[in-house]
Amino acid sequence: MINKIQETVDFIKSKTDIVPTTAFILGSGLGKFADHVTEATVINYSEIPHFNATAVAGHKGCLIIGMVNGSPCAVLQGRIHAYEGHSLDEVVYATRVMKHLGVENLILTNAAGGINTTFKPGDLVIIDDHINLTGRNPLIGKNNDELGPRFPDMTFAYSKDLRQIISEAASSIDFKIHNGVYAAMTGPSYETPAEIKMLRVIGADMVGMSTVFESIAGNHAGLKVAGISCITNMAAGIDQVELKHEDIKEEANKSIDSFCKILEITASKL
Ligand code: HPA
Repeated sequence: MINKIQETVDFIKSKTDIVPTTAFILGSGLGKFADHVTEATVINYSEIPHFNATAVAGHKGCLIIGMVNGSPCAVLQGRIHAYEGHSLDEVVYATRVMKHLGVENLILTNAAGGINTTFKPGDLVIIDDHINLTGRNPLIGKNNDELGPRFPDMTFAYSKDLRQIISEAASSIDFKIHNGVYAAMTGPSYETPAEIKMLRVIGADMVGMSTVFESIAGNHAGLKVAGISCITNMAAGIDQVELKHEDIKEEANKSIDSFCKILEITASKL
C-alpha cells in the first residue's frame, strides 16, 4: 500500500513544485471551486497512477494543485463513492495520497439532504460530527501502522479550529452558515421517509452517501479534518416530493458563490 501511495505521490510531484498544505474534496455540484485555484496544474484522475475515475454525474474527476488566496492547496474535483462498487481502500485512496503529499488540513464537502427542518435547499452546514450508518469502515482489516494507529480517536474528528475558521469566514461575508451532524447511508437509493424520521430521532441534521470514510481515513492519518454540507433538497418525506438526482445536482448552484468565497477565505487562514 505505501509503495503504491508513493508511486502516486511521485507522479503528482513530477507535475508541480507546489506542495499543498490543504486539500479540498468537492462534492456533487460543487466543482466550480476549482476555478478559484491560480497557478493551477490540472491532472485528470485517469492519468494518475492508481487513481480511480468517478462515473457519477456532477463529478468531474480532476486533481488541481495550485494556490488559493495565497495558500498552497490541492482540490479534488469529484470523488468516488462506495455505492459505485469501489472498495473502501479505493474510496479513501486520495485522502491517503494527500497526507503523503504533505497535506495537513482536509476539507470535505458534499451535497446532502436536509433533515433538520430549519434548513432549506441552498443552505451550507459545517459538519460538527457524523453518524456512520453504512455498517462499513475503511480501517477494517489488518492495520497498516505506517498509515495510522489501530484504534484512532474520533472524539475530535471534525477539528474545532477548522470549524471556527470556516464559521468566521462565513460571518465575514454575512452568510448564515449552520452547524449539524451528518448521517451517512450507503445509497444509492435515497432514504425512505421512515428512515429519515429515525435519523432525526438519533440526532442527525443532514444525510448523504459520502464523506465519513474519508473523514475516518483522514483522522487515522493524523490530518485535521473539516466538512461542509450543501443542502440540496429536504430529505425524503419532509416535502411530499420525489427526489431526483438531476434536480438535486442543480440545487448546489444556489449557494455556489458563497461556498467558493468561504473556502477561499478559509484557505487564506491556513
Ligand atoms: N439523501 C442522501 N444523499 C443525498 C441526499 C439525500 O436526500 N441529497 C443529496 N445527497
